[in-house]
Amino acid sequence: MKALVYRGPGDKALEDRPKPQIQAPGDAVVRITKTTICGTDLHILKGDVPTCAPGRILGHEGVGVVDSVGAGVTAFRAGDRVLISCISSCGKCDYCRRGMYSHCTTGGWILGNEIDGTQAEFVRIPHADTSLYPIPEGADEDALVMLSDILPTGFECGVLNGKVSPGSTVAIVGSGPIGLAALLTAQFYSPAEIILIDLDDNRLEVARRFGATHTINSADGKAAEKVKALTGGRGVDAAIEAVGVPATFQLCQDLVAPGGVIANIGVHGAKVELHLERLWSQNISITTRLVDTVTTPMLLKTVQAKKIDATRLITHRFRLDQILEAYETFGHAADTHALKVLIEA
Ligand SMILES: NC(=O)c1ccc[n+]([C@@H]2O[C@H](COP(=O)([O-])OP(=O)(O)OC[C@H]3O[C@@H](n4cnc5c(N)ncnc54)[C@H](O)[C@@H]3O)[C@@H](O)[C@H]2O)c1
Ligand SMILES: [Zn+2]
Ligand SMILES: [Zn+2]
Repeated sequence: MKALVYRGPGDKALEDRPKPQIQAPGDAVVRITKTTICGTDLHILKGDVPTCAPGRILGHEGVGVVDSVGAGVTAFRAGDRVLISCISSCGKCDYCRRGMYSHCTTGGWILGNEIDGTQAEFVRIPHADTSLYPIPEGADEDALVMLSDILPTGFECGVLNGKVSPGSTVAIVGSGPIGLAALLTAQFYSPAEIILIDLDDNRLEVARRFGATHTINSADGKAAEKVKALTGGRGVDAAIEAVGVPATFQLCQDLVAPGGVIANIGVHGAKVELHLERLWSQNISITTRLVDTVTTPMLLKTVQAKKIDATRLITHRFRLDQILEAYETFGHAADTHALKVLIEA
């Protein structure tokens, strides 16, 4: 089968690989119909993710059709259409029983990282009963690809951790796919203001179309001042960090109002400064989270009911044999205006 393989920092190729086989009774093999590329795949290609060894098939998002199942799988059988979660969960360990699937002792984020992923014709999914979701009849499968990772990530790590609530004020720093997913799902709660901050005017324009009440290009270093002006001098109740660099975490510390939350989503590769000398008295909270995907069934219903239109995040389409071109397009988002690229296998 064809598969996109990470061959070491800066090196990837479309290779011919053997079709994956059932290895454990809980496994399923899924034939991929649609997959996509995540910002995290670009992190891997830069060599930022040491758990991902050269030779690994990348990808942790997608939908497909069950090809075969192990003897222990009871919820799915060959022919079922399924949504693949980026997080594998056994459903039984202490972390899974607490709904913290991201820290499952025999799962978590392993797909396209510690085991072969979804940017291929077939993928092996461990703990299939609790890591796959049935696709409802008539569902828009393009939209569901956005449910493997980005919608639960924006919602759980940003909106839920940020305690977004009716009438509250929210700033989302980073208007990439994850920041936009937080923007779409924050609107479930009718906050009064949602301010999107980025360096890229095109992405800010998209944010306006997706429901941002204000957008700020932070290139001039005046974003904190502008947010204060929009919020009666207070700052925001929820400052959601969706970039993953020291400057944006710093900005969130400047934006948060007394009693507010800094909800970090970004994957950080460098240490950041924490200004407790200023924040100790401000009654704030700081949260971090690796997406658990525990809200996937709920988000699936909202997509099905057309409460959010996740297909708006898809900007480009490719076939699996064009995946190198898809990486080029996704990797140069400032020029190509790419958000999510959909790859059909
Ligand atoms: N916590 C989790 O479980 C989880 C899951 C998935 C992704 N992530 C992380 O979420 C982050 C966002 O993901 P994405 O796919 O949207 O990334 P992305 O790179 O597509 O988007 C980031 C955005 O930040 C903007 N930006 C960069 N530097 C900036 C700065 N100094 N000030 C303001 N804006 C700036 C960019 O223009 C871009 O629009 C990444 O760090 C990703 O790895 C975390
Ligand atoms: Zn991802
Ligand atoms: Zn578990």
